[in-house]
Amino acid sequence: MNLGVFTLLWALISGASSQDYYEYDQYFPLSMYGRSPICAPECNCPGNYPSAMYCDELKLKSVPMVPPGIKYLYLRHNQIDHINEKAFENVTADLQWLILDHNLLENSKIKGKIFSKLKQLKKLHINYNNLTESVGPLPKTLVDLQLTNNKITKLGSLEGLVNLTFIHLQHNQLKDDGISAAFKGLKSLEYLDLSFNQMTKLPSSLPTSLLTLYLDNNKINNIPDEYFKGFKGLQYLRLSHNDLADSGIPGNAFNVSSLLELDLSYNKLKSIPTVNENLENYYLEVNKLEKFDVKSFCKILGPLSYSKIKHLRLDGNNISQTDLPPDMYECLRVANEITLN
Ligand SMILES: *[C@@H]1O[C@H](CO)[C@@H](O)[C@H](O)[C@H]1NC(C)=O
Ligand SMILES: *[C@@H]1O[C@H](CO)[C@@H](O)[C@H](O)[C@H]1NC(C)=O
Ligand SMILES: *[C@@H]1O[C@H](CO)[C@@H](O)[C@H](O)[C@H]1NC(C)=O
Ligand SMILES: *[C@@H]1O[C@H](CO)[C@@H](O)[C@H](O)[C@H]1NC(C)=O
Ligand SMILES: *[C@@H]1O[C@H](CO)[C@@H](O)[C@H](O)[C@H]1NC(C)=O
Repeated sequence: MNLGVFTLLWALISGASSQDYYEYDQYFPLSMYGRSPICAPECNCPGNYPSAMYCDELKLKSVPMVPPGIKYLYLRHNQIDHINEKAFENVTADLQWLILDHNLLENSKIKGKIFSKLKQLKKLHINYNNLTESVGPLPKTLVDLQLTNNKITKLGSLEGLVNLTFIHLQHNQLKDDGISAAFKGLKSLEYLDLSFNQMTKLPSSLPTSLLTLYLDNNKINNIPDEYFKGFKGLQYLRLSHNDLADSGIPGNAFNVSSLLELDLSYNKLKSIPTVNENLENYYLEVNKLEKFDVKSFCKILGPLSYSKIKHLRLDGNNISQTDLPPDMYECLRVANEITLN
């Protein structure tokens, strides 16, 4: 039996869900690798998962000694306020996940090119710290970057991070000039969360590979014409709790055929922006809507031409049952929930 088949079998027997947290090789006894990572004395490296080192909630003020072989390092809920240049010197070829959530890190106390020296790093989480800008330079292997709940006002360059797929930047203090073209050229980017920041417009040059874009809870008042034109796979778009009025939304702004969910709730819209017929969930609650125009959902009506909307929320507006035109049901044929006041 070759190793791959054995691994798969074992993964099935031992429960596939563990795949999220473990790598296949941890199912094999250490002897197969001939090297047993030792653990930092204050931390915990579980016997069945020896390439992970857990140092959570230990009141640590700095990063402990990280022995060779450690791939997954958890340092959550400590008081770490600096990282020395040598902290990871013995795991530059090993470390894949570095989780530093809930510490006291500031940019000025992260010394040197610490992260870009980590040649296998895929996940970097520094949520809930005291960062005022993004960290960097970052290694090209990075897939998942999380810097939420800091005080970030400025993003550095993310250029060349060809595998970066997930970026979480919600709950920071990003303004338009702090972002400029930070996301340009991230050709693998699928998930971008910029919610709860202070942006007044959409970032320029977002990668068209995005599937999910969250921009809710900002101050965005305008969507440039054809902004989403090149986006072939965008499925989830949230723009709720912004300053969008009718004048800031060009007619074809949301005519994106891949879009399944659009959240425009808590804005200042008076009419319903036109959407593509493939849209399934449309949130428009708490705006200033006064009329319901079937043309917002169906350009033409016909046996094969109808809206795929399943859920439509219109509550918190000035639209009641009597405002709904009779031909609405011809268009919203598969809607199973329309919420009015
Ligand atoms: C790295 O390994 C060397 C040799 O074992 C050791 O002297 C050094 O303290 C280690 N560095 C860290 C940060 O653990
Ligand atoms: C770090 O952030 C915490 C929580 O936001 C705050 O209480 C503390 O004063 C900050 N420390 C520094 C050194 O900025
Ligand atoms: C990007 O990911 C692919 C597929 O996982 C991998 O083959 C490639 O080496 C990665 N590139 C970098 C720079 O890490
Ligand atoms: C939406 O875009 C398609 C092309 O992608 C176009 O054929 C269609 O007319 C547009 N719909 C509206 C309502 O403008
Ligand atoms: C709601 O719309 C009706 C007419 O459709 C209008 O008479 C009324 O003033 C509007 N109420 C508000 C709060 O805008």
